[in-house]
Amino acid sequence: MLNCFVPDGRSETRPIRTVPAAQYRDWLAAQPAQVRGWLEGSSFEAKAGRSALLPDADGTPGGALLLLSEPAEPWDFAALRDRLPAGDWRLESGADGLDLDQAALGWALASYRFDRYRKSERKLVRLAIPADPATKRANMIAEAIFLARDLINTPAADLGPAELAEAAAAVAVRFGAGFGTIEGAALLEQNYPAIHAVGQASFRPPRLIDLAWGEAGAPKLTLVGKGVCFDTGGLDLKTAGNMQLMKKDMGGAAVTLALAQVVMALSLPVRLRLLIGAVENSVSGSSFRPGDVLRTRKGLTVEVGNTDAEGRLVLADLLAEADREQPALLVDCATLTGAARVALGPDLPALFTPDDALADDLVAAGRSAFEPLWRLPLHAPYRDLIDSPIADLNNAGKSGTAGAITAALFLERFVTETGAWAHLDIFAWNAESRPGRPKGGEATGLRALLATIENRFTVCLS
Ligand code: BES
Ligand code: MN
Ligand code: ZN
Repeated sequence: MLNCFVPDGRSETRPIRTVPAAQYRDWLAAQPAQVRGWLEGSSFEAKAGRSALLPDADGTPGGALLLLSEPAEPWDFAALRDRLPAGDWRLESGADGLDLDQAALGWALASYRFDRYRKSERKLVRLAIPADPATKRANMIAEAIFLARDLINTPAADLGPAELAEAAAAVAVRFGAGFGTIEGAALLEQNYPAIHAVGQASFRPPRLIDLAWGEAGAPKLTLVGKGVCFDTGGLDLKTAGNMQLMKKDMGGAAVTLALAQVVMALSLPVRLRLLIGAVENSVSGSSFRPGDVLRTRKGLTVEVGNTDAEGRLVLADLLAEADREQPALLVDCATLTGAARVALGPDLPALFTPDDALADDLVAAGRSAFEPLWRLPLHAPYRDLIDSPIADLNNAGKSGTAGAITAALFLERFVTETGAWAHLDIFAWNAESRPGRPKGGEATGLRALLATIENRFTVCLS
């Protein structure tokens, strides 16, 4: 269990009273004069997400009040934890309409610190939780999100393709999953030419990471992640400003690895396969070049319009391999385009899928998991924008517009056998700190995807 939790009944706890913000006035009127005087006298602002310490008879802070959003959000509890003094706390029973797992998750997500390079003082603010499936699940999800955040936050110098593969291997060992990698020139021998091309400039060789887990008879769930450990842009070099955050270009890999960890931890009834292309998009004499024509795993040829559109090349080979097995559900996550951010900002993943039912499921699951995502179209007429006069495809759209869509249309060419395919173009980063979402790496999409997977594969036999 994460150290922001303590098992129920193990320690002295102080109560947290949750009140929907709209009911605050009524609640206040029913309080003893001492509590009323305290809150009124300290000009407490009665807004959702705000909290106050409540005095005991002896004047010490004996409890806390939290005003909830409608409906209650995990971020309410994250904001509360940020403000509470060290000690052990419990949610007062009778808190109606409260989802304990969402509350526990928000609480846990607020406890994250990236302390690889600097020790942070951590105040121990613990929530007493019952040992039930809901809170175990929240703990597992938070743990996985922390793994993703740590990987994304780790600078490229300390997290290259080899280290990303080690992280995935550690997850595989923990859950007894099958694990393999294909490295360097072996990628050419085993027909992953596009992954190799993108990674060939770096002294840290590219790798395909392949993790497999689950019962033979279960439906196949395949997750595909973009693991560009650093994206300089290649010979089409990025500007300093655009390169600044590019240690996070393995965000898709981090999210899919973390999601795979939760799927295994929850023993979901699927046959899981995780495919990650771990590369560094570097500059050297052996860089792939603008104008080169690459052959891909699927046999389609790609003219390199821009070496900075490297993610879709890596994904092309991974998706072709995934698609061959016709999984029941295929999801790829990638920090694929700046254009998706221009369209939807940092928080909303752009969702692409040809499958309307899957789109509806993902959007609904996102809403229920407090992690909305937004569908953009695989607009067929824009396929012309990734034509090439000399190859099957060009990796960069010619118009400079609809960049997230042309990237998704590029990927679509490599998924021809699988119906239920979704592509998430994510940011994987919090630009500013908010409750439960500190500045830095973020496992964007994980909770929405998990909810979708649980809904699809955890059937109720009634
Ligand atoms: N990793 C970037 C996309 C990116 C940039 C994501 C900034 C999040 C924030 C990707 O490899 C890239 O460089 N894409 C180019 C594609 C273009 C050259 C066709 C882009 O979006 O500008
Ligand atoms: Mn790029
Ligand atoms: Zn990239």
